[in-house]
Amino acid sequence: MGERWGRRRGGRGWSAEGARRGRVGAPSARLVLTRGRAQPIMRAGGYLLSMKAKVEELRSRGLAEVTAAADRAALDAVRVKYLGKKGLLTDLLKGLAKLPPEERPVVGKLANGVKTVLADAVAARRDELAGAAAAAEAIDVTIPGIAPALGHPHPLIETQVRLEQVFESLGFEVVEGPEVEDEYHNFEALNTPPDHPARDEHDSFYLGPMLLLRTHTSPVQIRVMEGRQPPIKVVATGRCFRRDEADATHLPVFHQIEGLLVDEGINFRHLRGILDVIAETFGGEGAVARVRPDFFPFTEPSAEFAISCFVCGGRGCRVCTEGFIELGGCGMVDPAVFESVGYDPERYTGFAFGFGIERIAMLRYGITDIRQLYDNDMRFLAQF
Ligand code: PHE
Repeated sequence: MGERWGRRRGGRGWSAEGARRGRVGAPSARLVLTRGRAQPIMRAGGYLLSMKAKVEELRSRGLAEVTAAADRAALDAVRVKYLGKKGLLTDLLKGLAKLPPEERPVVGKLANGVKTVLADAVAARRDELAGAAAAAEAIDVTIPGIAPALGHPHPLIETQVRLEQVFESLGFEVVEGPEVEDEYHNFEALNTPPDHPARDEHDSFYLGPMLLLRTHTSPVQIRVMEGRQPPIKVVATGRCFRRDEADATHLPVFHQIEGLLVDEGINFRHLRGILDVIAETFGGEGAVARVRPDFFPFTEPSAEFAISCFVCGGRGCRVCTEGFIELGGCGMVDPAVFESVGYDPERYTGFAFGFGIERIAMLRYGITDIRQLYDNDMRFLAQF
């Protein structure tokens, strides 16, 4: 800039108008005046500059700086520098007083014009910056959203809910019982006295004398029958506990679903019908249930039940045993159980069944190791 100022020497910067109307002098002490007529020049740093050129220069410099202002603060600084109370233009206007009277209006008008131009430019630039800031903050509603990661039920819970739905559709009510049980409900009332060999299979976690983590969902049968009279048609799902070593098919914590139906005239064929529905629901169309004699203290007769293998269709494969997949136990409620809850065994009969939910989940999802259901490895679980 200084260079440009410097080069404008010798009045070369004057306009034709300036020449016509008389020369314009700078309002400084260094203004050289000849008698009666202002010299159109000033000495500044050794260079002669016309007042008009100076105004012009302020205009172009000011405009350039306004345009270059990158933010509100910078713009404000430029405004103060040129238009503020001690700004360059204000300074210049103050100096008007030192000009010969006839020259004041010319320079005054010029300077005021520049003042307006700069003020307008500042206002425009302010709007521009505000617009840019607003645009930066604005939400573009056309940008595709980022889908939030959605979870889904655990395959085990999903299976439990599916089982409950199937039984609800068959008219069963879903009930719950405590995970911490007393020996009476877990064993005695289920016709399993302390010295009964069946207790060996139910190696349990004791929390104190007579208090344990339930080893199966069958105690819920007792709690339901204690509380109401037949007809009873319930399923109970929930966690069970046994002191088992963890391997591919066993865990000390697992889930069961228990079914109980008690009324007058209930027989084994009713049970069989329900088992066939389960076989078809989880084994696919054409799947059948198979019952074979077994023993449980609380059912008589007792049976183990299996469904035909949906992998090989019954021919025999890695997943099944000779074409069938064993699911659990079942049978007609033992009269001794009815007696322990005060039901008349001569009047009422009923059936019960119970099986592991993990087993069904593993079959449903092709999971080969039960422990994977409890690892909580998101990479594994996200597949289902
Ligand atoms: N409670 C038995 C078990 O856990 C299963 C069962 C339930 C058997 C109901 C018969 C009737 O092994």
